[in-house]
Amino acid sequence: MRSLLIFKLIITIVTLQTVSASKFDKDWHTYSNYQEVVSTHVDLQLTIDFDKKQLNGSIEHELKYLRKGVQELVLDTRDIDIHRVESYRGGEWSDTDFVLAERDPVRGSKLTIALPRMTKRVKVHYNSRPEASGLQWLSPIQTAGKKHPFMFSQSQAIHARSWMPIQDTPAMRVSYTADVQTSSDLRPIMSAENDPKWNKNGNYHFEMPQPIPTYLIAIAAGNIHYKKMSKQTAIYAEPELLDASAAEFEDTQAMIEASEKLYGKYRWTDYDLLILPPSFPFGGMENPRLSFITPTVIAGDKSLVSLIAHELAHSWSGNLVTNATWRDLWLNEGFTSYVENRIMEEVYGKERAVMEQALAYQDLKKELIGLPKADTILHITIEGRDPDDAFSGVPYTKGQLFLMFLEQRFGRQDFDTFLKTYFNDHAFKSIDTANFTEYLEENLINRFPGKVSMKEVDVWINQPMLPSNSPRPSSDVFDKVQSHMNSWFSNDVKLSNIPTQKWTVHEWLYFINNLPMDIKLDRLNRLDKQFKLTQSTNNEIAHAWLLLNIKRSNPAVNTRLADYMISIGRRKLIVPLYKALLEDKNKLAFTQKIYDKARPGYHPLAQGTIDALFEKKD
Ligand code: BES
Ligand code: ZN
Repeated sequence: MRSLLIFKLIITIVTLQTVSASKFDKDWHTYSNYQEVVSTHVDLQLTIDFDKKQLNGSIEHELKYLRKGVQELVLDTRDIDIHRVESYRGGEWSDTDFVLAERDPVRGSKLTIALPRMTKRVKVHYNSRPEASGLQWLSPIQTAGKKHPFMFSQSQAIHARSWMPIQDTPAMRVSYTADVQTSSDLRPIMSAENDPKWNKNGNYHFEMPQPIPTYLIAIAAGNIHYKKMSKQTAIYAEPELLDASAAEFEDTQAMIEASEKLYGKYRWTDYDLLILPPSFPFGGMENPRLSFITPTVIAGDKSLVSLIAHELAHSWSGNLVTNATWRDLWLNEGFTSYVENRIMEEVYGKERAVMEQALAYQDLKKELIGLPKADTILHITIEGRDPDDAFSGVPYTKGQLFLMFLEQRFGRQDFDTFLKTYFNDHAFKSIDTANFTEYLEENLINRFPGKVSMKEVDVWINQPMLPSNSPRPSSDVFDKVQSHMNSWFSNDVKLSNIPTQKWTVHEWLYFINNLPMDIKLDRLNRLDKQFKLTQSTNNEIAHAWLLLNIKRSNPAVNTRLADYMISIGRRKLIVPLYKALLEDKNKLAFTQKIYDKARPGYHPLAQGTIDALFEKKD
């Protein structure tokens, strides 16, 4: 009797501890009951069916109970067909009841599964549908090689649920294993340990032993080849892009080493890059061990590799220490933008890092003007909204500026120690803004009194726009570019006398971004004649130039503009162009024509964003 009491007491203590481990507010964006029972490991058995545009198979959840008497498991799904659910107890599998609820436009359909007592595992048999928001299915014509189809997932923020029934919240973590079957002329790949050998039978096995949030589970398949770059790094890409990618990203190993020196060991063994077709809607996605990368950054001169530094930086901020809810995205992206810039400084020098800060700062200031005030707050409120709709540069650059502010006040050495310790203390955990603020107060603010007040911290995190104490990054190199520009406008120098031969891509971007908004067409065309900007093969330069020309209604760029919008699906490069075009009623027909042609090639996410822009015009 006494021993039973003691046993009960121990159980209660253990349970209380586990429950208090999830010390943050409920994640609004999940229906799952992860505060009662959590899935700790998933096993996927999937067939990739390119003809039907479906993943077909099962997902098995290993369960851990956080409370007693839990009778159901609630999973997130969206647009998934559920065939059958089984539960495992007493050494046997048997069918179990389930209910799939009505579809909520943001959260999808809640899947409630009956849990007979002592159920240790649950297996859901399902297929994804062709319209899954987290998958894109490309026909051969949309790939570099034009011969094989291609598919890939993009699960962040809440799209994992569109291709697997899962507790889709960054508050919890799972390890995973997977067996994936596809036709033998294609190779599947996942964000996990794998054997880079091409298997003749089309069967591949993957293991991710470290626990990760579900938005980092990723899959792709296509004519994907492999090229090793260094000890820990390799490229996966269509053969047409393999060599160019390996040359562009050859400094990746040096980036890992720079980052380890600052923030401690890289904990994910290898760091490979998967180069996707151009319709990939993001610049990059930090899927662990295997970042997904847009081909639009292969510029031939390493000018856009800060993207790799960014995705790599997520191996600390994001993948190791994870935002607990999507309100806390700035903890992922702001820290990552800061770390990215520190890596760039280590590998390419201070001057380049400062130029990148200054460009980001200018972009943010412009963006802030157009955003609803509430969306300029780091700790944003997004209950009831799709996280995709609240996406902006705020969590990135305002977050980065906040950390730069702390670095300046506390000094680099102490701030670096703080950050390294923060990553270690929270490794493989999730954290929300309140937890972070508390940790910051204890480990930095109070440890070095008189440098920053909690009031200042509160303003950064909870008030709109940029605080008056914000760093304002500027670059001497850009100051020179500015003075050449001024001389040209005051007719003191000719364009041919500006020393542009040695300008970096960053100087060009500064130059274009800072041309006066009311620049005359004649001047625009003189610039183009001299510097061939419309034809620039650097996608960032082309973007900046096309944007300015849209705003100035210069028809001279129209052909290039249409080509650009049809060949690229990266949201950051195309959405601002659509927005600018749609600001002018007279351009509606022209824009619609481009979009009609481009839309079928875009990812569902990009389609959603741009459809909404058109709807606003109706
Ligand atoms: N994790 C993000 C992409 C993301 C964020 C997807 C939020 C869905 C929701 C990725 O690391 C990223 O930030 N990509 C940027 C890179 C850039 C800031 C260097 C992008 O895609 O442009
Ligand atoms: Zn990021």
